[in-house]
Amino acid sequence: MTMPRRAAQAFTAVLLAASTVTALSHTAAAADTLGSAAAGKGRYFGTAVAANHLGESAYASTLDREFNQVTPENEMKWDATEGSRNTFTFGNADQIVSHAQSQNMKVRGHTLVWHSQLPSWVSGLGATDLRSAMNNHITQVMQHYKGKIYAWDVVNEAYQDGSSGALRSSPFADKLGSGFIEEAFRTARSVDPNAKLCYNDYNTDGVNAKSNAVYAMVKDFKSRGVPIDCVGFQSHFNSASPVPSDYQANLQRFADLGVDVQITELDIEGSGTAQANNYSNVVKACLAVTRCTGLTVWGVTDKYSWRSSGTPLLFDSNYGKKPAYDAALAALGGTGTPGGGDGGNPGGNATCTVSFARTSDWNDGYNGEVTVKAGSAPINGWTVTLTFATPQKVASLWNGTPSWDSSGTVMTVRAASYNSSLAAGASTSFGFTAAKNGNNSTPTLGACTAS
Ligand code: G3I
Repeated sequence: MTMPRRAAQAFTAVLLAASTVTALSHTAAAADTLGSAAAGKGRYFGTAVAANHLGESAYASTLDREFNQVTPENEMKWDATEGSRNTFTFGNADQIVSHAQSQNMKVRGHTLVWHSQLPSWVSGLGATDLRSAMNNHITQVMQHYKGKIYAWDVVNEAYQDGSSGALRSSPFADKLGSGFIEEAFRTARSVDPNAKLCYNDYNTDGVNAKSNAVYAMVKDFKSRGVPIDCVGFQSHFNSASPVPSDYQANLQRFADLGVDVQITELDIEGSGTAQANNYSNVVKACLAVTRCTGLTVWGVTDKYSWRSSGTPLLFDSNYGKKPAYDAALAALGGTGTPGGGDGGNPGGNATCTVSFARTSDWNDGYNGEVTVKAGSAPINGWTVTLTFATPQKVASLWNGTPSWDSSGTVMTVRAASYNSSLAAGASTSFGFTAAKNGNNSTPTLGACTAS
């Protein structure tokens, strides 16, 4: 039996009213903010914060209402804290830490040893001097914040992108060798044994050569008793670097090594339902991994994002809640604020998963088949992203509607009119023929978004 839309709305309103009464009879804090909903799941939900925005009332009130963890976006980096050798400046970072303490927010220290935002005096040192400068920096900064930081990104982004699995060239790696990471962690533990010590990186969000290299390092550290407690997955996503389909599995394999994992710098370029579904998938992946202890988005508002034009965050430039906010909150098990301008919970239950198979192969081409499966709720539409290695080209595609990004490497496929609606748990597939043009790689499959 189908109910006319108005009747259905009225029926839903009655149900909502009934559930509001029930909710009011429980006095536990309503899980109607990101922080409180995450706390209900034993996690934190945080954001990067810039000290110079704390005086803006909408910024501060959004921060204080929604988040229960902060990471200083730039203020604890080496160039901000020790611009000249052994002269330490903590003013801006202190401002963030005291704000966080006044709001009972956890603080993640970011970051002690990183090749970027590194003052030139450090890069100019010889090996012996560099070693003592690194250990002194870790010691002084951690001493200053001892007892106030729940976790430190001790070493950030030490590995190269791409297939080498090697350390990136940096003053530390080049002059001290690979042992600098271990030394940094050992020094950090000796300064503040109560802070969690993390390794943090990007492009390690799925299983790939770079994350394999980090995995091998963590495994080695655990086997030799080198102190490491956690691994941060930055999770900066866009169409060229979509949420990987093995995101959860990757978090889980690190957790299985005996470390906590955290999503540390989450932002996902896009808008509307597609962005919302991506956020939902990321939150759900963390919740599905017991040792994923929290998520941090890389900024409060699109207005101040480091990649503002990609509108990658949960609040728009006017601090309005975006569909991505509703989806993240719903995934955390929270409830949207009625009349809060958050549009309810669009697409909150619509999920899908994807898998890929190369179904045939010949000298200069191959056929690929992507299977889309609805989650536990029916879906009305789906979108899948595939990134191809250059110079592969898709020659034809069936059972879907493709579009391409400007680089011609990222193909987004929407459902065809006849296979967009899927019952809960049902599957459909689309296929394509690709010309290898000398490159035999398999395309990278992004996450599935459903509406
Ligand atoms: O504060 C100065 C300002 O005085 C000056 O006028 C202006 C001119 O360029 O620069 C301002 O500093 C900028 C700073 O952000 C504060 O806005 C720097 O140029 C700019 O390079 C810096 O960018 C930061 C970036 O790290 C540097 O690598 C971003 O804010 C910050 O979001 C970003 O964060 C990194 C994480 O630490 C590590 N993972 C990747 C992530 C994104 O790149």
